[in-house]
Amino acid sequence: MKIFTTTKALREYLLLQIRNLRQTIGLVPTMGALHEGHLSLIRQAQLCNSVVVCSIFVNPTQFNDPKDLEKYPRTLEADIKMLEQVNCNVLFNPDVNEIYDTHEQWHLPIGKLENLLEGKFRPGHYQGVTQIVFILFKLVEPDSAFFGQKDYQQFLIISKMVKLKRIPVKLVMCPIKRDPDGLAMSSRNIHLSPGERRHALVLSRALNWVKNNFEPSHISRLKKEAELMIGHEPGVELGYFEIANGDTLTPADAGTQKIVALVAARVGKTRLIDNVVIS
Ligand code: PAF
Repeated sequence: MKIFTTTKALREYLLLQIRNLRQTIGLVPTMGALHEGHLSLIRQAQLCNSVVVCSIFVNPTQFNDPKDLEKYPRTLEADIKMLEQVNCNVLFNPDVNEIYDTHEQWHLPIGKLENLLEGKFRPGHYQGVTQIVFILFKLVEPDSAFFGQKDYQQFLIISKMVKLKRIPVKLVMCPIKRDPDGLAMSSRNIHLSPGERRHALVLSRALNWVKNNFEPSHISRLKKEAELMIGHEPGVELGYFEIANGDTLTPADAGTQKIVALVAARVGKTRLIDNVVIS
């Protein structure tokens, strides 16, 4: 695997060795602390492209809480081994100055999606996410880019950015990877104690319960029951549970066609999110 830490070296390599040979590039942007969920994105990218670029960059502009940024797990050596095991072709692992070398302001008119759900709890988060993904798209010029369904709202917002900025890239949403007990894989799971991990299972349990008992005319009752289920779990503090329109993330009603249930909660000190597509 080739490892680049500078944008110049990465661009030269991609232009001279890859683009000139008319090979396609798949990009998997990550913040590292890789797990099977990330590897499934790499495998999916390999199925559709000649070359796969994975980026590992803990992007400061998407953290509104400096403690959260400081605490974010960094496991570069283990990440490199995992990427080599799945035959990823290129790792781009720049430092902050390499990415944000000028003081350019960034503001994308994301619209209502920006301040709903995750956006409400993490003001400015999606401006930071779109800022870094835009920079990576301009740098790598991928044919396709791969993101996990776990960050469902992020995927919708990146899709909006691609439309607004007219970026010629195909976006692919890959299914959530779960541990055998149902917990959605996340880099943040590292912080859970064994007890917290057990309590965190209430999130996937509540989502599945809503999916299995779904009735369009009972949305508000299902939402309340899921909230109660999570609220009764010790050590779990609910952020939101929403049964939403899968395109706009506004609350679904009996006539909504595409429905997704989304949840966020703090388990101990760790904030987790999860979701399930209902229809
Ligand atoms: O989903 C993530 O890990 C990050 O938000 C992303 C897309 C890599 C941007 O920093």
